[in-house]
This record gives sequence, C-alpha cells and structure tokens, in this order.
Amino acid sequence: MLIDGIPKKAIESTNDYKIVIIDQTLLPHKLEYITLKDLDGCYKAIKDMWVRGAPLIGVTAAYGMFYAIKENPSELNIKKAFDLLINTRPTAVDLRWALEKLLNKILKFKAEDRATYAWQFSKELEINSIKQCSKIGDYGLEIIKSKIIKDKTFNILTHCNAGWLACVEWGTALAPIYKAYNLGLDIHVWVNETRPRSQGAALTAWELCKHGVPNTLIVDNAGGHLMQNGKVDMCIVGSDRTASNGDVCNKIGTYMKALCAYDNNIPFYVALPESTIDFNLDSGVNKIKIEERSNKEITHVSGLNSLGELSNVKIVSDLVASYNPGFDVTPARLVTKLITDKGICNANSKSISELFK
Ligand code: MRU
Repeated sequence: MLIDGIPKKAIESTNDYKIVIIDQTLLPHKLEYITLKDLDGCYKAIKDMWVRGAPLIGVTAAYGMFYAIKENPSELNIKKAFDLLINTRPTAVDLRWALEKLLNKILKFKAEDRATYAWQFSKELEINSIKQCSKIGDYGLEIIKSKIIKDKTFNILTHCNAGWLACVEWGTALAPIYKAYNLGLDIHVWVNETRPRSQGAALTAWELCKHGVPNTLIVDNAGGHLMQNGKVDMCIVGSDRTASNGDVCNKIGTYMKALCAYDNNIPFYVALPESTIDFNLDSGVNKIKIEERSNKEITHVSGLNSLGELSNVKIVSDLVASYNPGFDVTPARLVTKLITDKGICNANSKSISELFK
C-alpha cells in the first residue's frame, strides 16, 4: 500500500539474501527500516514486536530458518532454530504453520541444498501472502458493495491492526477496505485504539491515513455506543488463529466488539488466510494458548513528549497489580461470515471444511 504516494511492503527480501522490515515499535512517530541478515535478528524482530501480525510473523520466521540453515544445515541446527522461533509468539498459528511446513520439507533435501530451498520457500510464502490478502480483499469488497447505500458513507469498525503492516501487503481485515477505497467507494473506518499496545492508534490509523482512507480513532470502549447509535454498518477484524469450528482468536477486546455487534444486529466479519486456520483444533474457547504479555504494557504508555522525543511514562501507582492477556476468543456463533482467500464461508466446521477440502 502507499506511504505518501509510494508503494511499500511490510517485509522485502533483497537479491543478496537480506530482508528489510519496518521497526513497528517506532510507528507512528518514526518510519525506520531494519535489515535482517541472521537468525538472531529474525528472532528479536518477532519477540520484541518490530514485526507483528499473524501472517508477517510467519514469513519472518521462515526467513529466520533460512539464515539458521545457511549458517549450518545440519538436522540438529535446524531443529534448534525451529525450537527457538516457535516459542517467540505462542498464539498466532501462522508461525507454527510456516515453521512446520518448512521443517517437514527441508530434511528431505541433501544438506548442501537446504539453504537454497529454504530461501525459495520463504520467498514463496512472502509472495503468496500478497496474493492471498489480495483475494481476501476481492471477496470482502463484494460484501461492502452489496451493503453500501448510494450517497451514504459506509462505516466500518475494526480492531487492532490487520492491515498491510501485519501481513506483507494489503492486510486481511483492511484489504477489502483498501479495495473499496481504491474503487472510489464512500467508506469511513472507526479504528479502535487497541490498548495496551495501541496497534489501532499507532498502526491502523497511521497506515489508513498514509494511503488516504478516511478514518477516526476511538477508545476501545466507544464501539458499543457507536453501534447502538447507528454509526457502524459492519465490523471486520483479522484472526491470529481460527479453530476448525469457526471460533476466532484475535487481539484482546475482539470478543467484546463481537458481542456488541451481535446485540445491535451489525454484521461481524473475520478476514483470514488459510494459514490462520488451525485444522487440528476442533474449537477455540479455552483451548488456545493465550500469550501473556509484560505488565509494563499496561502500567506504562509511550509517545512523543512536548520536546518531540519518544518517551515512556508510568500511569499507575506501584501498589497496583495488573494482568495482560494478549488475545481472546470470539465464539463462532457471533461471527457473521469468514472472508478467506478461498472465498466466503460460514463460521462452522461444515462450511470451513467444504471450502478448504
Ligand atoms: O500482537 P499482534 O500485534 O501481533 O496482534 C495482531 C493481531 O491481533 C491482528 O489482528 C491479527 O494478527 C490479525 S491478522 C493480520
């Protein structure tokens, strides 16, 4: 998508076997690129959330495996790298999906051919992610077109960041929005700030503004009020892991938005590529490992101070205890439809298995 008119991607591989990412911890205040060229760099990039978002984590992890294999293609070293990377972010299943797919294939190659294969594999993952997100955008666009009313702004609410910054290009939840905007449709996005890390405020609002899509930031608790007052026509979010029955695990707070949407008869869509479906999981509630993140994400906030410097300030007393689960599970019964790269389906086992047979 565009940054000030220039097309950009969240990750790009170079001809000399490096990858370039954006340090997303600095957004929206600074746009800084980091070049990764070893396993340690990829590990840190995922663990410290320089990159984040289910599909982007998967692609970065695959490149991490490539660097490990380039250094030492032995089975022992490959398994060591796999164990290191798989434990970086436990909830988003794309990471496991990409690493297991690569591991299953790589050991069939002779040691001297493994690095070449791992590079090709990672590059394909990167390119396929763009194609998948673009497809999600096409299918989601049809839904928007079917609902939009002439001469009336169509209001879409989204949570967290499921845009191009979370993928490679387009995004999942934001792909239909970009396609609708590019087509000249009159849309507007309500962006939930998404505490505690504020991916909505720092990333979604930023990438929408940079591309030109009209949007308004709201606090996480405002969604229900807006829905009750007819200010939301449709909700669309991404997914970090979707169970085979259609339960959706996504950023903390998604469940509450889905409940509000249900209560107000507003369609609640989830956009996801196939790699986000965990076919081994029959249902999601109470069954998905929820990443617990540092308490500091709650007790502190970051931003620019009056001197224009990045700073991190404490907002609670030392006496306060806090708890910080990163994701929650929205039961399938609250999901109107899943928008995938293979088409649109109901959030239930039958419909999902038919689409992905
Ligand atoms: O903790 P994050 O920033 O990696 O969480 C990201 C999300 O929850 C996204 O909504 C999710 O990955 C959707 S897919 C792009």
